[in-house]
Amino acid sequence: MSDIGLFEAIYSTRSMRRLKPDPIPREVMEKIIEAGVHAPSGSNFQNWAFVVVEATDDKRFIRDRYLKYYRELERLGSIPSMDAIPEDRRRMFATATHLAEHMDEVPVLLLACTGTDFPTYADANNPRSVTATLHASIYPAVQNILLAARALGVGATLTTLHYFFENELKERLGIPSDKEVAGLIPMGYPHGRFGPTTRRSGQDVTHWGRWQTGPDSA
Ligand SMILES: Cc1cc2nc3c(=O)[nH]c(=O)nc-3n(C[C@H](O)[C@H](O)[C@H](O)COP(=O)(O)O)c2cc1C
Repeated sequence: MSDIGLFEAIYSTRSMRRLKPDPIPREVMEKIIEAGVHAPSGSNFQNWAFVVVEATDDKRFIRDRYLKYYRELERLGSIPSMDAIPEDRRRMFATATHLAEHMDEVPVLLLACTGTDFPTYADANNPRSVTATLHASIYPAVQNILLAARALGVGATLTTLHYFFENELKERLGIPSDKEVAGLIPMGYPHGRFGPTTRRSGQDVTHWGRWQTGPDSA
């Protein structure tokens, strides 16, 4: 395993949804999760936990539900039909559908869990503060995981569609009620190549000093 440079990893970490069934060695998963837990969290509470789902029946359980809600979102138009999608976004939706249909075949479904309460902000006069801080205390770890996976040649995608069946998922895997499953990350060695990502430039979305309004602003 040879490490790649940080910026190369950042610029080439894209969602990898076509994954081989080959197992990910335990030491590789441990290294990836160790990178995750080096992330910051609110008050350094580190109220995170990771569930490595590898058993076929558990992965099928997740696939069946993920696919059910994926189809439901297609029916409602939240996921557009292929002919309504602009050419440059078709590949993304095609691979997302592939992942939904084959989620039980990937070697690892990693669940990133966080707490359901962040007492520090309980009295803040801002209804978003607790949820925001809880999520801001797990998604940096998730990003570290995505980057570490990339560095080790493992493809991954952060998905959140499991929120449609989160309670069932928690019950199935014995996840305590005071934990939230904030990310479902299918992982495996990819069929395709990493990167590059398609993003607006930093320059396009940066306001120096004051928020600028106008046709060119973010
Ligand atoms: C909060 C969040 C939720 C996401 N949920 C899903 C999901 O449920 N299913 C999926 O296939 N991809 C999901 N993605 C992946 C995004 O679609 C993907 O990151 C985005 O289209 C950019 O593509 P790229 O990562 O390949 O550059 C999610 C990403 C984020 C950040």
